[in-house]
Parts: sequence; C-alpha cells; structure tokens
Amino acid sequence: MQKTVTILGSTGTIGQNTLKCIELHPDRFAVHALVGGGNAGLLARQARQFRAKLAVISRPDLYKELKESLQGAAIEVAAGEEAVIEAASSSVDITMSAIVGSAGLKPTLAAIKNGKTIALANKESLVCAGELVKKEVEKYGAKIIPVDSEHNALFQLINNQDIKHIERVVITASGGPFRSFSLEQMKNVTPEQAIRHPNWNMGAKISVDSATMMNKGLELIEAFYLFPLRAEQLHVLVHPQSIIHALVEMLDGSVLAQMSVPDMCTPIANAIAYPERISAPVAKLRLEDIGNLSFEKPDDGRFPALRLAYNALAAGGNAPTVLNAANEVAVRRFLDKEIGFLDIARIVEKTLQSVYNEPLETIEDVFACDEAARNHAKEEQ
Ligand SMILES: NC(=O)c1ccc[n+]([C@@H]2O[C@H](COP(=O)([O-])OP(=O)(O)OC[C@H]3O[C@@H](n4cnc5c(N)ncnc54)[C@H](OP(=O)(O)O)[C@@H]3O)[C@@H](O)[C@H]2O)c1
Repeated sequence: MQKTVTILGSTGTIGQNTLKCIELHPDRFAVHALVGGGNAGLLARQARQFRAKLAVISRPDLYKELKESLQGAAIEVAAGEEAVIEAASSSVDITMSAIVGSAGLKPTLAAIKNGKTIALANKESLVCAGELVKKEVEKYGAKIIPVDSEHNALFQLINNQDIKHIERVVITASGGPFRSFSLEQMKNVTPEQAIRHPNWNMGAKISVDSATMMNKGLELIEAFYLFPLRAEQLHVLVHPQSIIHALVEMLDGSVLAQMSVPDMCTPIANAIAYPERISAPVAKLRLEDIGNLSFEKPDDGRFPALRLAYNALAAGGNAPTVLNAANEVAVRRFLDKEIGFLDIARIVEKTLQSVYNEPLETIEDVFACDEAARNHAKEEQ
C-alpha cells in the first residue's frame, strides 16, 4: 500500500530532499499535494515529475505562471495563503511540514486536524506555539515525528526508553561558519559568509540561525515541546564534525548516541518511513575515514543567542514566541544588509525586554504576540 504524502515547502531544501527520498521508493509513496512559496518554475517541474494531484503556490501573483507551466497535466492548481491551508487540510498519511518560519504554523495546525502523521521540520511552529500545538496534536490524535536531525536522533534514542531513566540529553551543534571567530571578526561578516555552512546544505534563514547559534536555541525549545523532559535536562555541545546528532545519558551512566553523515535525507527517510526503515540517498558513515570526533562547550559570550533562548524557555509565557518573531525579522534585516551580524542577537534581546510577557491562551494570542514582536524588531536600531 502506498502512503500518500503532502509536502509543505516542497521547493525548499527539506522539500527537495524529501522528494529525493520519495523518488527512491515509488512503490511506497504517492505525492498528493506540493506547496511552494515563490518558486513557481521548480514547483511545476516537481508536480509533473511526481504526478501530484495538487500544486499550490503561496504568492497569488504567481498563479498564472504556475497554471501555464502545468497546462495539459491533470494537476489542480491554486494560489494564496488560504489555498496553502486548504492543501494542508487534505487528509493524507504523511504531511511534511517544511515551510520556513512562523508562516508554517497555520498550515501545520491545519494538517494536525487530520489526526495523521506530521513529519515536522518547521521548528518555528513549535517554538512560537508549543503548548497550543501539543494540545491540538492530543485533541486530534495526530503524531509528530521530528525531522530536525537532532530531534529525529532523540526520537530514535528515546523511543524505547522509560523517560524516568533518563538523566539528561544533549543535542549537538556544528558551531557554524564562525565557530572560531572572535567578536571583532564577527562584526563585519557578510550574509554570503553566514549562509556558507561548513557541514549542512540548508536554506538561508536556518543557515544564519546556525551561524548565530540561535538555531540551537530554537532547537532547545523545540526539544522541550517534543519530549517529556524538563528544561534543565536539555544541553548543547559543540561538535564540529556533525556526526553525532544527539546523546541520551541514562541514570546508570550509559550514554546512547545517534550518528550519521550530516545529510538531512537520513532523518527525512526515518520520519516518512516510520516505523519501518527505508534506504536513503546518503553516503554511508565510515568512522575510519572520519578519524576524530571532537566536542567543546558552547561559548555564550560570542554566541549570546543560545543564552537568550535558554532564558526565553525559562521565562515561559510568550517569551519563546517573541524570541522567534524577533529573530525572523532580525535575520531578514541582516540578509538585506540593513544590520550587522552581531545586531541579530542584540535586536532579539531588546525585543524580549520590550514586549510584555503574558500567557498565550489561544492561537489568536500567538499571532498578536508574533506581530507585536515583529513590529518592535523592525524598528529597533
Ligand atoms: N535545511 C535543513 O537542513 C533543515 C534542518 C532542520 C530543520 N529545518 C527546518 O525546515 C524548515 C525549512 O527549512 P529549509 O532549509 O528547507 O528552508 P528553505 O530552503 O528556505 O525552504 C523554505 C520553503 O518554504 C517555502 N515558503 C516560504 N514562505 C512560504 C509561505 N509563506 N507559504 C508557503 N511556503 C513558503 C519556500 O518556498 P519558495 O522556495 O518556493 O519560495 C520553500 O519551499 C525550516 O523551519 C528549518 O528550520 C531545515
């Protein structure tokens, strides 16, 4: 029996890697809907190649281009935010949630309502609305399988363990392109340098997040909402080779690790095939070729974003939502060369200090808070 799959963000790095995995297993997966943001040409090619039933582009002005590119193919075409949510609502076995940023939240919530499996790459939706997403997952009986390599590693490691036996968990960080830079050197780095990640091939936003280490901060918050662990049990270790993705330390001193070459096709294949295992288009891990694995403590002084995320998690309420929204705006401003690299964490910190911390009861509260934080971060100099 083929599993039906919808990919939200099919034109992005995660989306394209998901299709690479599906391409290897045409007998197992059938593509239902593909959703893109602004790359109508690639979306049309993907839809034809994978015989999707539906292709949706979020930008309404690109409807005509997409429609014309798919002329003659029996593929339904739609555009706009509502169409994205409608596509996410169609009941399929697996929805890959891989839109970048909090734009992924509404479609992810729509997919959860089907009570099926969500392969979740869009960490921002858990960071900005973790409690509410969890409640919806429970209410509709959906299952979230994390795609982020560290969280997919934890998912594999924790799956068969009694949570009471776990002392602490560690997620690893490559340290990004500026791991050994001084603050003085980081002052003048360019967006081009920041998006050139040493180990992973990723979209621009997450690449900048890796360079500031905000990505690891977002991942700490993501881990808190995905697993029944206390915030104090979550730790980060810099591991420049990105071979070990997570470690779970048990009460008896055993430490379990998940390893693979740094290629997102491994966690993607794991998430879409779960509970089975399928082959993935990745190189095999040969430790003899790697030789050494090294580890170091993260440096909060040079990478303050990590401390901001820890503090936001401890503060609770709307702090993670504010952190996420301010970071999205600051990263955009950095990519547009409006602010410097070190300004990203500074703007996030200022926004956290300025937006009043209150509980988020409803999804409307989340969007209102997200907007308030964005407005603040846009103005902050
Ligand atoms: N890349 C990785 O290795 C990696 C690892 C772990 C987690 N993640 C997470 O996975 C998510 C995607 O990351 P990525 O690296 O694949 O990003 P990316 O390459 O920038 O791709 C983002 C995708 O989202 C689409 N998109 C953007 N805004 C949209 C909107 N408003 N409505 C609908 N679609 C929209 C883009 O469409 P267009 O390209 O057509 O504009 C693209 O398909 C992020 O949350 C990231 O944190 C990524």
